Amino acid sequence: MDRIMIHGGKPLAGEVHISGSKNSTLPILAATLMTSEPCTVHHVPNLSDVRFMLDILKYLGAEVSQLDKNTLRIQAREVKDVAPYDLVRKMRASVCLLGPLIARLKRCKVSVPGGCVIGPRPIDLHIKGLNSLGTNITLEEGYVVSNSGELQGTTLSLGGRHGSTVLGTDNVMMAATLARGTTVIEHAACEPEVIDLANFLNSMGARITGHGTSSIQVEGVDRLKGSEYRIIPDRIEAGTFLVAGAITQGDVMVKDVIPQHLQAILRLFENAGFAVESGDDSVRICCNGTTQAQDFATSPYPGFPTDMQAQAMTLMCVTPGMSVVTERVFPDRFMHVAELQRMGAQIEMETATAVIKGVDHLSAAPVMASDLRASAALIIAGLVAHGDTEVLRVYHIDRGYEHMDKKLRTLGARIERIHES
Ligand code: EPU
Repeated sequence: MDRIMIHGGKPLAGEVHISGSKNSTLPILAATLMTSEPCTVHHVPNLSDVRFMLDILKYLGAEVSQLDKNTLRIQAREVKDVAPYDLVRKMRASVCLLGPLIARLKRCKVSVPGGCVIGPRPIDLHIKGLNSLGTNITLEEGYVVSNSGELQGTTLSLGGRHGSTVLGTDNVMMAATLARGTTVIEHAACEPEVIDLANFLNSMGARITGHGTSSIQVEGVDRLKGSEYRIIPDRIEAGTFLVAGAITQGDVMVKDVIPQHLQAILRLFENAGFAVESGDDSVRICCNGTTQAQDFATSPYPGFPTDMQAQAMTLMCVTPGMSVVTERVFPDRFMHVAELQRMGAQIEMETATAVIKGVDHLSAAPVMASDLRASAALIIAGLVAHGDTEVLRVYHIDRGYEHMDKKLRTLGARIERIHES
């Protein structure tokens, strides 16, 4: 298993190009199953989660070819209807196969993904939404089984206790695309990744409107065609590199981004006292004198993203003053806290809230990555800690960040990956 060693204390400086969005790519790749014609997808990040999804698509019958480093051509002339546990268990996002398989085949058997370290991951809202279209879903021996016949458009709601559901909205939107009549999805997720999927489906001939708002309308069509599409930039990768620039008191510009997607994150930086400059497709951050701790709470888009909570909390750990961080999307998503405490962070937990007292500095320690964003937070902590931080289990990072260590090195970080068999 690889490890990452970081010698902390060097301010980062320079420009970094942001890759395509992981959370757009996964459902868009799944959506290529909805047509027998070829789809070409550009700006696909080279990530292990993407490779897991491609393995599943190939198993289901799709031909996948890599046209260049970040471009794939996928053609699913025939599609199998069973996605087995062995493939699905590797990645929770494989739940977004449900919508495409049901849309194309009107039947499927997809293994139910388990929970994960960020907390329980129910799919009740996916099932409720899909069943409103007439999918007849039952749960049998760990599989979601659907045998539906023609789907019928209707008005349905995807509101849950923690807001809407991103992949649930994706699933229902995909199934509704090839249903009869019009579907209205109320309390739909508004995340940019949902908009990206809707735009991809529309490029295939779907008739979706209202994406990006909480009410999405889908007018069913008979068939979809092949398409060529470019994935949006990864707003979470961009936010992560901006935190890395801020915490090291550096001067970092993220390039090829959509600044509007970063508004909640940029607001936090500005309120904390960092200088933020947004261009058409870039954002630059640098230190502007004194900074001060901020309270923030995660919530669905356009709120502060849960996928940035761990990284932003790490910044607060070394920002003067007290901050209160509340997790409203995944209330158990705090695995990074114990590791940050081992590096000298002063954090007290009270259910889904962390109270942080900014300290002068963090101290290097061997730390264990436990999930994707927690790993990113620990690497960021290592960049500013005194001494050499060793981050173990870095395969979590490779699930969602394309060459994070290399990109940090181009910004001047003293970071090294140690390969072990
Ligand atoms: N929820 C339910 N019932 C459901 C579905 C969700 O109660 O049927 C709850 C969840 O437990 C959670 C909330 O609703 O409290 C939101 O979950 P959501 O369904 O939106 O999460 P997701 O679609 O499974 C995607 C991202 C996550 C990101 C969340 C929230 C992908 C592949 N994953 O997950 O990304 O945290 O939306 O924005 O798009 C990550 O990239 O690190 C990551 C975990």
